Amino acid sequence: MPAKRKSSKTILLTGAAGFIGSNVLTYLFDKYPAYKFIVLDALTYAGKLDNIPKKIRESGRFSFWYGEVQNAQLVTDLVAQVDVVIHFAAETHVERSIYDNYKFFDTDVLGTQAVASAVLKHRKTIDRFIHISTCEVYGEGLSKKMDESHPLNPKSPYAAAKAGADRLVYSYYQTYGIPAVILRPFNIFGPRQHLEKVTPRFITSCMLGEKLTVHGSGRNSRDFMYVDDVARAIDAIVHAPHAKVVGEVFNVGSGVALPIIDLAKAVMKEMQYDSRNLVFITDRPGQVSNFACNYEKIRRTLGWKPMTSFKQGIKKTVDWYVQNQAVWEDQMDMRHVSVRTPEGKIELH
Ligand SMILES: NC(=O)c1ccc[n+]([C@@H]2O[C@H](COP(=O)([O-])OP(=O)(O)OC[C@H]3O[C@@H](n4cnc5c(N)ncnc54)[C@H](O)[C@@H]3O)[C@@H](O)[C@H]2O)c1
Repeated sequence: MPAKRKSSKTILLTGAAGFIGSNVLTYLFDKYPAYKFIVLDALTYAGKLDNIPKKIRESGRFSFWYGEVQNAQLVTDLVAQVDVVIHFAAETHVERSIYDNYKFFDTDVLGTQAVASAVLKHRKTIDRFIHISTCEVYGEGLSKKMDESHPLNPKSPYAAAKAGADRLVYSYYQTYGIPAVILRPFNIFGPRQHLEKVTPRFITSCMLGEKLTVHGSGRNSRDFMYVDDVARAIDAIVHAPHAKVVGEVFNVGSGVALPIIDLAKAVMKEMQYDSRNLVFITDRPGQVSNFACNYEKIRRTLGWKPMTSFKQGIKKTVDWYVQNQAVWEDQMDMRHVSVRTPEGKIELH
């Protein structure tokens, strides 16, 4: 007989002082008034407590732990207190991984090993462990849309570290039977994303009257999806019957490959900014050119599909950056990253 489902849950979210985690936390907090939440975050340059709304921080249903996911003892103590673990914490910026990648392997691989091992230790009480992987693990798209069986050919150190973490979680499921689910989001945008990422960089360039810089020809495409749709997918996975999700990998994305130049144009249009302000810079090493998500598996299994159109998502995101300059302006100096090219030149990207 299936175990009786608890009506209330306590959820540990690692890395939820960052972009996606803080949006998922807010979504779940608002939707489930009886749930409790614990966040573990090292507050690196990418994380800040202000990303977690005050109403959450000041509620009795929330606690924050400052610390690293590589700290096995701390992670084990926190995992002991919860039913569900959602693991977001990672070093996440592809360009930064080109110049200096040590931290990526340390946090993304060894951090995931600490979290998976803690889940293993407490597997009798953990209902499920959702590992947030990424579409970057696939590398170049061999078909127009990538499904979960696409080979893993990561092309950057970030992608390689995430591929290591993704397969590490899978191996723990196979070897020890931990209740793991692997989610591979494609390119996500929305409020509170760090200014180093392309969408907020374009938006803030329009606000500041700067040129918008695009790599290569701008024809490289990505699959862009609004962050609330990731939250809805995670919600569906947290509440699905075990048999449908445990041991599975799910893609989530919009299903549309959008050239980066079209993203820049959409932002400029929304902000009524002169489209002649586009400039092209050299392509970055390890660039992937073709990227679109096949989300048929999660649609078939859980009935999930993206609900926010690209246009609506861009509007909501632009509105947030325009209204919240005080939250993001301390990131202004980190919008560009030094990259070492194959010829050994250091360039600002
Ligand atoms: N943003 C995207 O488009 C996207 C797409 C697919 C997958 N992902 C994945 O989703 C997850 C979240 O991405 P994001 O864009 O919100 O990232 P982010 O960079 O905005 O946030 C990462 C968070 O992790 C924290 N962190 C970093 N190192 C840590 C450590 N050692 N211990 C504890 N906390 C640590 C940071 O302080 C920050 O709060 C990541 O695993 C990322 O690989 C992101």
